[in-house]
Amino acid sequence: MKLLVIGSGGREHALAWKLAQSAHVTQMWCAPGNAGIAAERLEKNQAPVQPVPIGAEDLPGLLAFALEKKPDLTVVGPDNPLSLGLVDLFQEKGLRIWGPNRQAARFESSKAFSQEFMERHGIPSARSGLFEETSAAKAFAASLQGRCAVKADGLALGKGVLMCTSQAEAESAVDEMLVRGSFGAAGSRIVIQEYLEGTEVSLHALCDGQTARLFPVSQDHKRALEGDQGLNTGGMGAYCPAPFLNTEQLAEVETLLMKPWLAGCQAEGIDFRGILYPGLMLTRDGPKVLEFNARFGDPETQIYLTRLENDLVELLEACVEGTLDRIELKWRPGASICVVMASGGYPGSYQKGCPIDGLEEAAGIDGVQVFHAGTASVEGRVVTSGGRVLGVTAVGPDLKSARDTAYRGVEKIRFEGAHYRRDIGAKAL
Ligand code: AMP
Ligand code: GLY
Repeated sequence: MKLLVIGSGGREHALAWKLAQSAHVTQMWCAPGNAGIAAERLEKNQAPVQPVPIGAEDLPGLLAFALEKKPDLTVVGPDNPLSLGLVDLFQEKGLRIWGPNRQAARFESSKAFSQEFMERHGIPSARSGLFEETSAAKAFAASLQGRCAVKADGLALGKGVLMCTSQAEAESAVDEMLVRGSFGAAGSRIVIQEYLEGTEVSLHALCDGQTARLFPVSQDHKRALEGDQGLNTGGMGAYCPAPFLNTEQLAEVETLLMKPWLAGCQAEGIDFRGILYPGLMLTRDGPKVLEFNARFGDPETQIYLTRLENDLVELLEACVEGTLDRIELKWRPGASICVVMASGGYPGSYQKGCPIDGLEEAAGIDGVQVFHAGTASVEGRVVTSGGRVLGVTAVGPDLKSARDTAYRGVEKIRFEGAHYRRDIGAKAL
């Protein structure tokens, strides 16, 4: 099979790495890819994964490439091309592609849609309201004593959520979005949710429109600094399994959340084929959905795919074909963890082009897999080219040993300004 993978982050490196191990794959392109992806080879025939200089949001460019090369399957990593309708475009031209279509991707591209869907189908979530007008928004925030999350409706690169703990903060967040328009069109409608307290976890479920297969529970670390301080980021590290839900509680989540979600999709004619990634808060009143994403998490992908034993091509094909009910997910026993190494200054502005040393030494440690995110190859050297640079990932018989291994890997790698959190996984130990 010939595959085209779309995206350039750590998630896409993990996808390409895992797909390259499939017995079905004989050729793979990645648009646009990164330095780590370009260094991967297919297990079946040792062919290199070929980077293609087409951006993940260049829909006409991607379509033209696919019509010429005729990949047997295209795999979409990031959310933007999904919400722009890449899947619909490929399907109209008879090209096989994995990922939700535009309508199904609205679970991520519109927080208002998601919130209303949850209310229609009785999926536990935060108390919330939907607003386009400031005075009603501020009155609702006041009914929550100002303790709330103010969210832009549309995609905002993970930055469209302002957490508020007082009415003054809430009012300024509302003005920021609805009056000053700081989030552009994404923020012309807002969702305000009550501020939920509890432990936050990530769920992932592969879906084929009829069946959803849940992954083990994981936990991301969204804040930039140790002890969950600093600004929100795309994710500074993750691990699985996260020990906050036992088997019975996970079964309860399946009943409370996944069943009504699937039934709701069917009732509304939403054909979700891809991966649903709900962010969940485990509150004293039970699990509640904070948001839905319609793609793999980053860095969750890195920890899941290093433990997944199934052939990933077969799983993605089953989503496209609607045959997921015949497949059982198999996980390597033990745990996995990913520690993100970021550029100095991230999630604010940062320098690019810093040479990275020690990659081979880190990768040489038993159990370590170094996934590239913001890297590029310049004159044969790997240099930084983004905020999140690397995801040093490790597997082990338990979380503690996986964690020790991952940090041994991190210590081998050097680039100017590198920063990472030393407490990834600490909450579980
Ligand atoms: P979201 O993009 O909606 O997941 O929000 C980003 C982050 O903000 C989440 O991962 C949570 O850490 C936090 N957050 C969002 N909504 C709430 C809420 N209602 N209560 C508490 N924290 C929240
Ligand atoms: N790990 C956070 C995200 O992928 O949105």
